[in-house]
Amino acid sequence: MKTAFPKNFLWGGATAANQCEGAYNVDGKGLSIQDFMPDGVMKPPGKTIEERNLKLEGIDYYHHYKEDIALFAEMGFKVYRFSIAWSRIFPNGDEEKPNEAGLKFYEDVIDECRKYRIEPLITLSHYETPYHLAKTYDGWRSRKMIEFYTHYAKTVFTRYKGKVKYWLTFNEINSLWHFPYMGAGILTPKEKLSKQDLYQAAHHELVASAMTVKLAHEIDPENMVGCMVLGLVNYPRTCHPDDIIAVMKENRKGFFFTDIHMRGYYPFYTKQMFEKENIHIQMEDEDMEILKNTCDFLSFSYYMSKCIAKDDSQYEKGKGNLTTGVKNPYLKESEWGWQIDPQGLRYILNMYYERYEKPLFIVENGLGAMDELVQTDQGMCVEDDYRIAYMNDHLLEVKKAIDDGVDVMGYTAWGCIDLISASTAEMKKRYGFIYVDRNNDGSGTLKRYRKKSFYWYKEVIASQGLNLIEK
Ligand code: BG6
Repeated sequence: MKTAFPKNFLWGGATAANQCEGAYNVDGKGLSIQDFMPDGVMKPPGKTIEERNLKLEGIDYYHHYKEDIALFAEMGFKVYRFSIAWSRIFPNGDEEKPNEAGLKFYEDVIDECRKYRIEPLITLSHYETPYHLAKTYDGWRSRKMIEFYTHYAKTVFTRYKGKVKYWLTFNEINSLWHFPYMGAGILTPKEKLSKQDLYQAAHHELVASAMTVKLAHEIDPENMVGCMVLGLVNYPRTCHPDDIIAVMKENRKGFFFTDIHMRGYYPFYTKQMFEKENIHIQMEDEDMEILKNTCDFLSFSYYMSKCIAKDDSQYEKGKGNLTTGVKNPYLKESEWGWQIDPQGLRYILNMYYERYEKPLFIVENGLGAMDELVQTDQGMCVEDDYRIAYMNDHLLEVKKAIDDGVDVMGYTAWGCIDLISASTAEMKKRYGFIYVDRNNDGSGTLKRYRKKSFYWYKEVIASQGLNLIEK
């Protein structure tokens, strides 16, 4: 018999400041690394602010947030994940005193959410390190970043005490391996960075994250802090033992972060790897003690899975979310070549839960597609049945994982309102339940329209998932 999702399940949606707010230089905001990425991760960062960087204006959420949150409330959101642009609070990142206008803006956003009983879930750092920190300190390669970041975290924890309970420290912290500039504000080009450099930067972020967990609990014991990783499901391309071992190694690149975040110490496999690769992480005496401040929950994004083979040269490669792998012959793909795998979501939920037995939160999932706004009997709408099918199938797998016994706190659909894509910096790759009239060339009225999926998701929330259709 079909059963509903748990009563306290946190249904909602997610956005990131740099992809929706716009107003990049308004009310004292400083520049962020994103202001120098007009092409997303497709090209190395430029030195000047490019004319056609869609993120500079975004969907102008900065001036539309009330209208947008009202639409989220209409869908019945219980939670809304958004990020604070660090450079609105500390324009350069290393100041002592915060920018009051920035603090006030997010306070208004939080109050607007609370008005509708929507719980804010705030990401402290979502690919938007202040540019000054990248330029002056080479981002997270410098240990100084720990001080700046924890000062920022303390400032917002104190200001929003009692109004915000759920926090995430770093968005997709494991993206550091693939895109050090976007992931960790490191200006030095990737090809000039050694493994040593990357692991050192990772260490700084992990220490900062653990210190932030401690701070959050001290400031308000009600606070719950999660880590956030790019959730990657790696399947062996064949059952050859070589491929199985290749998967084991690949998985450890991601487990490295979740193991430290959730267990509070460097996992056993790093010892041998560091020796082999001649990696020596510089640590302060107190670091090991600090790392013991583990996260309250683990959150992750999930869009796709990929295959791994020891020798991948003989297989067709697939595209993917910040990473690539070998194509899986059993799966279909999105218009951007990301392979769609709902069962992978059940698999990864079980995998993390087996490993840590701590609550999990799916904080990103969705389908990037080219939508068409058409005239219907009900007015202008996007008939996005493909998105409904994608989410229906993924949510059914979430329910199966819950039935498997996994503790899943909630689900926030990515880009619940259309926004600028992170990897390609384009507008036409849309994820939302709400269509925003803005085009790749920057034209458009910025008017918002409800898509067909808007009404569908509203029904999912209202019925606690009972309207999901099993094939
Ligand atoms: C995640 C990021 O990697 O994927 C988001 O946290 C991003 O910021 C999302 O937008 C989807 O990726 P894209 O490139 O389609 O925007």
